[in-house]
Amino acid sequence: MSKRVVTLAHYYTAPAIQQMADKVGDSLELSLYAKECQADTIVFAGVRFMAETAKILNPQAEVILPDAGSTCSLVTQTDVKRLAAWRQKYADHVHVAYINSSAEHKALADWIVTSRNVDDIIAHLYAQGERVIFSPDRNMGAYLNYQYGYDMPLWSAVCEVHDRFNENSLLEGMAAVDGPKYLIAHPESPLPVLKRADYVGSTSGMLDWVRRFDREPDATIFVATEDGILYNMGLARPDLKISQAPIYAGCQCNQCPYMKMNTIEAVRRAQNGEGVRIDYLTPAQMDAARLPIERMLAFSKARMAAAQATPVAVPA
Ligand code: 13P
Ligand code: SF4
Repeated sequence: MSKRVVTLAHYYTAPAIQQMADKVGDSLELSLYAKECQADTIVFAGVRFMAETAKILNPQAEVILPDAGSTCSLVTQTDVKRLAAWRQKYADHVHVAYINSSAEHKALADWIVTSRNVDDIIAHLYAQGERVIFSPDRNMGAYLNYQYGYDMPLWSAVCEVHDRFNENSLLEGMAAVDGPKYLIAHPESPLPVLKRADYVGSTSGMLDWVRRFDREPDATIFVATEDGILYNMGLARPDLKISQAPIYAGCQCNQCPYMKMNTIEAVRRAQNGEGVRIDYLTPAQMDAARLPIERMLAFSKARMAAAQATPVAVPA
């Protein structure tokens, strides 16, 4: 019997790669899909921490990352030994870690979050009277502290792609365009940029915001995130003017080098069984990392079910 190969692609991969995938999504959607799909092999066109998460959630499946170089700066900037000491310093706090982290890092966390559920999970923890520390993304943590008045101690790593956005260049670039304009941004961007945004949210959150846009039809929507998702936004709303947020005058270079290592050739090779096998995590490492991920998935599934069960008000 032939093996069932499932290809997953993140929104930040190139359009041609998304077209090769069985499922395209954000980190949360792809984790859930990886856990529940009946695959013998999962080809993960994303970055290493995503492929590792897929393996942790679906250890029966063989998981292949197309290119060994597909890492993430939030992972490479975090020394796990130093992180363990930092976590120890706040032993009475709940440690919330962003999914953009290694398996060893996840094992030091109580909860994993993605950019889609981070607001709700941390609000839930504060509502229970917990004190929280947040790692590894300093920008996302600073935004949460600012937005909700938290005082979470933060680990200090950044996404090298989103951290390049800066307020002045953004304002200059936006001022050069006439007409109504909006800014939407991923929470990995620096706080001064996020403070200027009309909407801050995950990749799928921004995509939904664009899908539902019903304001001025001639508006320009600037998007402060990796450029791959502009493809999905264009497909969803071809009638709108959607533009990458400029990093500096004239620059349209907000690409994640690691996501873009998923070339057509590399993904094809992975679909034929070549590439990096995620087979190096021990059962103990996977068990330790799975706990905080499963906590997040259970929380998000319950929230999604509650949202679907909420009756829609029928106008009189
Ligand atoms: P999402 O969880 O919004 O898909 O983001 C993942 C990511 O790597 C952003 O840089
Ligand atoms: Fe990591 Fe940033 Fe690339 Fe996302 S865009 S995978 S956070 S380096």
